Amino acid sequence: MLQYRAANKEDYKAIAELHAKSWQENYRTDFSAHFLDHLALEDRLKVWKNRLETPAENQYIILAEQDTILVGFGCAFLDQSSEYGTLLDNLHVANEAKGLGVGKQIMKRIAEACQQHATSKSMYLWVLENNVSAFNFYMHLNGKHIETITGNDIGDKEVHKQRIVWTDLSALT
Ligand SMILES: CC(C)(COP(=O)(O)OP(=O)(O)OC[C@H]1O[C@@H](n2cnc3c(N)ncnc32)[C@H](O)[C@@H]1OP(=O)(O)O)[C@@H](O)C(=O)NCCC(=O)NCCS
Repeated sequence: MLQYRAANKEDYKAIAELHAKSWQENYRTDFSAHFLDHLALEDRLKVWKNRLETPAENQYIILAEQDTILVGFGCAFLDQSSEYGTLLDNLHVANEAKGLGVGKQIMKRIAEACQQHATSKSMYLWVLENNVSAFNFYMHLNGKHIETITGNDIGDKEVHKQRIVWTDLSALT
């Protein structure tokens, strides 16, 4: 059975493992093979341990589990931007759980958290230009593509990333 819950300290390893695996499966065009195969897991373990042990005040993480196995997660930072509102920093669903509505449910729960706890009632995220599948998913959920920029804050290469914005959260809830 699929269930959703908030994350706690003990979850950091499972989240990091799913995050690194999802990068390895989906980000081959944008990250180097060396980074993905040798550094990504260590990088994610460090980030998630830190996020769960010393959470930022505006951090909101939702996990999806199927029979207690982690199959998806989303991590948002409420009111991160004065212009675009809450940042959905990560959203990943395990291959075996794709197409079951997990991604949409996580987005819904994050949008609800935004409506209840954030000052700004809008939400945004960055999706890599090469990640056409995720881009189409966000378009299906009524996101608006605002701009594309070049950055080097994720992975180990320069990437082109697209800002997707929801100004009307009712499209997600
Ligand atoms: C993108 C992702 C989060 C989608 O999650 P998912 O659980 O497979 O999607 P859902 O089952 O919740 O789909 C919800 C709706 O979106 C649609 N959808 C799903 N994937 C889609 C796609 N690639 N293109 C267009 N529509 C899509 C579904 O048909 C469904 O439509 P409906 O509600 O009208 O029936 C998931 O595929 C994923 O983790 N991808 C790899 C990691 C990634 O790229 N993350 C995003 C980083 S920015």
